[in-house]
Amino acid sequence: MDYKIIVALDTNNLKKAKKLIKTLWLRVKFFKIGLELINTGKAPELIKYINKLGGKVFYDIKLNDIPNTVGRTVKVISRLGVWGFTIHALAGQEAIRAAVHNKGRSKVIGVTILTSSSASVSKILQLVRILAKEGVDGVVCSAREASVVKRFGLKIITPGIRPKWAQKNDQKRTAIPKEAITAGSDYLIIGRPITDSANPLEALIKIIEETET
Ligand code: C5P
Repeated sequence: MDYKIIVALDTNNLKKAKKLIKTLWLRVKFFKIGLELINTGKAPELIKYINKLGGKVFYDIKLNDIPNTVGRTVKVISRLGVWGFTIHALAGQEAIRAAVHNKGRSKVIGVTILTSSSASVSKILQLVRILAKEGVDGVVCSAREASVVKRFGLKIITPGIRPKWAQKNDQKRTAIPKEAITAGSDYLIIGRPITDSANPLEALIKIIEETET
């Protein structure tokens, strides 16, 4: 397996998040903590829990603010012990620069356009160009743009992943896991196809197997 799955823990329930991590632990080591959990105030505890197990945290805070605020906030984030955190490319060049400057040992991941919105490839490339110039470590984009974004030499992280048997929910620019990997994705963010499943581990294993056939 030369790509990695990041499971999106989109919940406000710490207990539920920990239970999911335990259930999936043998097959996945990357977990995404998003705005919902961050706003419960329980994120630091969950980060410690995941780090103690030996896992990695993708801190999906989606920063979008003025450069000074971004820089100062990133200083705080850099002490949390997360593997990486996200910033909107639309925050602009200066804010991205402030994030890169203050990132400490965490990776800066730029979000182009949310996969729940439609976007032209040229708009996405324009944003990726700015992100690459400012030295971010990776880019979040849909699998449909992955092959063009790959040219910039950044790690590619793709949400909007939907196996054929899963519901699309609110995602628009979706791809099946295998397509995303073929397009050059290094990390697949997968939430509801796993977390809403009656048997999350079975769903995860099914996804992994489908990418290997
Ligand atoms: O449940 P689902 O697989 O759609 O979850 C996708 C996750 O990826 C969500 O947590 C969402 O916030 C996140 N995400 C996204 N599109 C982006 C960036 C992050 O869907 N561009």
